[in-house]
Amino acid sequence: MHVALLANLKKNAPTWPGMSPDQWDDLDSPKTIDGISAAIESAGHKVTFLEGDATLFDNLPKVKPDICFNISEGHFGDAREAQIPAILEMLRIPYTGSRVLTLALALDKPMTKRVLTYHELPTPNFQVFERLNEELDPDLTFPLFIKPSREGTGMGVSAESIIQNKEQLYFQLEKMLARYQQPILVEHYIEGREVTIGMVGNLSGPAARRIPKDQEARRIFRGLHFFPSLEVNTAAYPEEEAGLYTNRMKTELADEFHYHCPAPLPDDLLEDLNWYAAATFRVMGCLDVARVDFRLDANDNNKPYILEINPLPGLNPGYSDLCIEASADGWSYEQLINRILDLAIERYQLNK
Ligand SMILES: Nc1ncnc2c1ncn2[C@@H]1O[C@H](COP(=O)(O)OP(=O)(O)OP(=O)(O)O)[C@@H](O)[C@H]1O
Ligand SMILES: [Mg+2]
Repeated sequence: MHVALLANLKKNAPTWPGMSPDQWDDLDSPKTIDGISAAIESAGHKVTFLEGDATLFDNLPKVKPDICFNISEGHFGDAREAQIPAILEMLRIPYTGSRVLTLALALDKPMTKRVLTYHELPTPNFQVFERLNEELDPDLTFPLFIKPSREGTGMGVSAESIIQNKEQLYFQLEKMLARYQQPILVEHYIEGREVTIGMVGNLSGPAARRIPKDQEARRIFRGLHFFPSLEVNTAAYPEEEAGLYTNRMKTELADEFHYHCPAPLPDDLLEDLNWYAAATFRVMGCLDVARVDFRLDANDNNKPYILEINPLPGLNPGYSDLCIEASADGWSYEQLINRILDLAIERYQLNK
């Protein structure tokens, strides 16, 4: 098949005077593009890389791919990760991974949390600030955690994200509103371990029902493959990272990532995490691949809280969480990439 790899390279991104140094931290490196291309080629396909921007309107009709491997994060707009899939659907070209609505929802953490809350899936209580003169909801007690609503790669996450009082809250809020130009999410700070669960596959059971309240009800995750859990070894990092998985750890320090995979977790807790990950995948309407990030509350018997779901998880062959998890499961990088591609090929019923 002819596969177009659609991504946004950091080096191709627009720049302007005074832009924030972390502006494009979410975008991809040539190493990821080369890794994915080589993996797809190793399965006998032809690959063409295309920058996932407006040039696609010209380039896609020329390249005429059978399918696109999409990891485009986009540059601008409140649903930037959904823009390329929207174009592909308009042009009726098949692509890997989640669709427009899911990518738009998952990029927006507050929207995701509203969906999770409706389904009674555990996520920290929260409030969204669109401007500085909003009162803090009296239900929210300190410590709180502050982060942008629609970024990834730990952008805006550092020790300063942990908020102990109103003064700190409004100080950080002012900085974040100015820097990220988007609503800011303030939620309960969950002190504890940091675990992420990656999965590939598609749910084959009923998917549109509300999750049953009954603890004994059958848990639906048929069709999904869970990789071993990954725990960030926060103890191995300097104190200034504050036990978090910060932007600095995901960029500057990414090559010396400290983790446990599989995470040392009791079986019943791991089963709950996998179930919550599958339920999140399900209620968000994910396809083919995703990674769900959790914190385990050290002050409440390791109770899991869902922070977010990443339907476009990082695929850097060297250090991305999902790639480490797949490798701990005995999968090569080629297997991981081609499984994602094959799942999409199957969904669209294409001939290989
Ligand atoms: N409520 C919270 N309590 C404690 N720590 C938190 C909380 N929210 C976020 N964090 C910390 O910040 C990190 C980044 O948060 P989150 O996963 O929501 O953002 P992200 O930048 O989208 O991540 P990714 O790189 O996975 O896209 C978490 O891994 C965790 O260490
Ligand atoms: Mg995360």
